[in-house]
Amino acid sequence: MQLIDGKAVAGQVKQEIAAKVAAMVEKGMKRPHLAAILVGHDGGSETYVAAKVKACEVCGFKSTLIRFESDITEQELLDKVAELNNDPDVDGFIVQLPLPRHINEQHVIEAIDYRKDVDGFHPINVGRMSIGLPCFISATPNGIMELLRRYGIETCGKKCVILGRSNIVGKPMATLLMQKSNPGDCTVTVCHSHTMNIKEECRQADIIIAAMGQPGFLKADMVKEGAVVIDVGTTRVPDTSKKSGFRLSGDVQFDEVAPKCSFITPVPGGVGPMTICSLMNNTLLAGQKAIYK
Ligand code: GUN
Repeated sequence: MQLIDGKAVAGQVKQEIAAKVAAMVEKGMKRPHLAAILVGHDGGSETYVAAKVKACEVCGFKSTLIRFESDITEQELLDKVAELNNDPDVDGFIVQLPLPRHINEQHVIEAIDYRKDVDGFHPINVGRMSIGLPCFISATPNGIMELLRRYGIETCGKKCVILGRSNIVGKPMATLLMQKSNPGDCTVTVCHSHTMNIKEECRQADIIIAAMGQPGFLKADMVKEGAVVIDVGTTRVPDTSKKSGFRLSGDVQFDEVAPKCSFITPVPGGVGPMTICSLMNNTLLAGQKAIYK
């Protein structure tokens, strides 16, 4: 069994980005600039946005954090999105999700200029990805593709089961793994809350991507010998032994599943750090105007 060290790979990727940024600045180009909008004080979102700002520093990007209280109206948020769309200094920006219930997330996502949509959530980016055109690809699935690539994991012709059908992870992951590319060329099955015989589906899989947000869902008897298991779960569960009062729990029962795997990602330190560095990569591409002029 080989542990996939997402933290180490992410560190390496960020150094590669920093070197490219240094070369850009040397040539007189401006530093890529990422802006992030954070609404409210959700603990997870606070942590993720802080990590994104920190990663910008490591990569040599300019970053701007824009905070609003959770009583902001949808119109006020849309006005800020319009302002960032029109700000020539901002290369890319994100609106951290989830948003308070009174704000329609889809309205906000569609208001973002797709050329600055470094999260890759805008329908134009999602559509372009689905037909294999250059676009911003959403960070978590792209980070997983990078891990598969850097660990030389064979995907061509493999049977891949994705647990979860979210717009952010499950659906784009299925799109990427089935496309004609390396990594890619998989036969993909997407399982969700209405799937019958999930256990049987999983037992046939060469690669399992667990992304349904149910701590410890994937057990040893659901995994075939030699499978590759990627754990996207990051649920906060109470843990009095931690200073923070919680720990992050993946969707995989790691201790019993790991011995059966050829490769497995831990939580934390697997997919999470890669998600952030994929966002950094998209920001670099935005700064370079490499995808859209
Ligand atoms: N919430 C959970 N993951 C993400 C992400 O990748 N981007 C944004 N904007 N919000 C998220």
